[in-house]
Amino acid sequence: MSRLIVISNRVSPPKTEDGSGAQGGLAVALAAALREYRGLWFGWSGRKTDKFTGHIDMQRAHGVTTATIDLEEQDVEEYYNGYANRTLWPLFHYRIDLAEYDRSFGSGYERVNERFAETVTPLIEPDDLIWVHDYHLIPLGQQLRERGLKNRMGFFLHIPWPPSRLMVSLPYHEKLVRTMLAYDVIGFQTEEWLESFCHYVERELGGTVDPDGVIHVGDRSVHAAAYPIGVDFKEFTEALESDAARESFERLRTSAAGRRTIIGVDRLDYSKGLEERFLGYRRFLEKHPRYQRKLFLLQIAPPSRGEVATYEVIREHLDELSGRINGEFADVDWVPVRYVNQGYRREELAGFYRAAEIALITPLRDGMNLVAKEYVAAQDPEDPGVLILSRFAGAALQLKDALLVNPYSKDEIADAIMRAIRMPKEERIRRWKAMVEVVRQEDVVAWRHAFVEALEKARPPVRREPTP
Ligand code: G6P
Repeated sequence: MSRLIVISNRVSPPKTEDGSGAQGGLAVALAAALREYRGLWFGWSGRKTDKFTGHIDMQRAHGVTTATIDLEEQDVEEYYNGYANRTLWPLFHYRIDLAEYDRSFGSGYERVNERFAETVTPLIEPDDLIWVHDYHLIPLGQQLRERGLKNRMGFFLHIPWPPSRLMVSLPYHEKLVRTMLAYDVIGFQTEEWLESFCHYVERELGGTVDPDGVIHVGDRSVHAAAYPIGVDFKEFTEALESDAARESFERLRTSAAGRRTIIGVDRLDYSKGLEERFLGYRRFLEKHPRYQRKLFLLQIAPPSRGEVATYEVIREHLDELSGRINGEFADVDWVPVRYVNQGYRREELAGFYRAAEIALITPLRDGMNLVAKEYVAAQDPEDPGVLILSRFAGAALQLKDALLVNPYSKDEIADAIMRAIRMPKEERIRRWKAMVEVVRQEDVVAWRHAFVEALEKARPPVRREPTP
């Protein structure tokens, strides 16, 4: 069996054998893939160094080998805070108004991708499968090819791919997209992002797309498809059985004192639609005063990318808005918004999801959104909660039985909350059953198998020459 080399900007070594602890769902999933296929996980350590040395820090923990490098301050500023998070992230989330184009970002992005290629190349064996993740590393495949690697290489984009009309606002967009042709397989979260990509290839690169998803541009053929990522259903439902989950369930239910909980869990990011969500919730309180003291919104939003100005701005707005709503509606014994800026362990979150009668997940644009799937996975089959989900999250294409809303509409959010409160138990069970089937079957194990299989089939492996 070929080894698997996973390359991503961030590397989260497993903290425990079973994946419990503070790690995100994707980290747990990739660690499981690496245990299955052996191999290693390469990326940035998250640390800064004065001078880039290319030193690789190899670690082995709970059956997974990680290899990380430190980056210079300027690298982090131009590549991570700059091109990845000030240029591509807003553009790919349809926010060209927030996208910044600075020449130094582009050159820093290229430089760091070269650094990744330079350091990882000696670790790669000829028949390894290489799987590159996300928008930080789009040109890495090409960089590796330029260093002579003939391995099968795949790229998976975790975030949306924007419509061509937005994509062309990126200076040198064509150069960037052409580098993707170095991969054998390109994966997107949904058919919608895949369609936008194929449209771009036809319109801007003069390529053609076969009905089976093979893209042809000049003499390059690349397989492009949608591989919707899922949660680790088994691992998550086990987390639900843990003492930590039981405790957090009790903690929330006790403090709710008979009131219903509406939960939201998101990184503090403008793409998550938190301001619009708060305003939609405010509209609900305004429209239905008799429900005011009967529920509350628990919004968990750990801060993210704090060195990028747009994230500071959204944080200030939310501090202000949550304070304003509480000032306006709160009473001595009731606060309508519990706005929490800290993160919680997976087990604790599982307990919170189980305890919350309603989930309000309303990103303005989201590649997939695993919180929606985790909420479904955590429900009590006898008495499940209601999921209110943005129609602009990738997950909405699979979770069709959620209450789908336009996150820009305060009234749609307010009406969906009302509908969730009034929903009869039979309807809640019917909707949940349909959703949990999807979440169970199209889980993260199925996702990684589908992607790795496509990569294995992309073309025959290049075997090492036998030594004479
Ligand atoms: C999104 C991206 C990931 C990223 C994560 C957290 O889910 O698709 O690539 O790791 O956000 O963002 P951060 O900048 O903290 O890595």
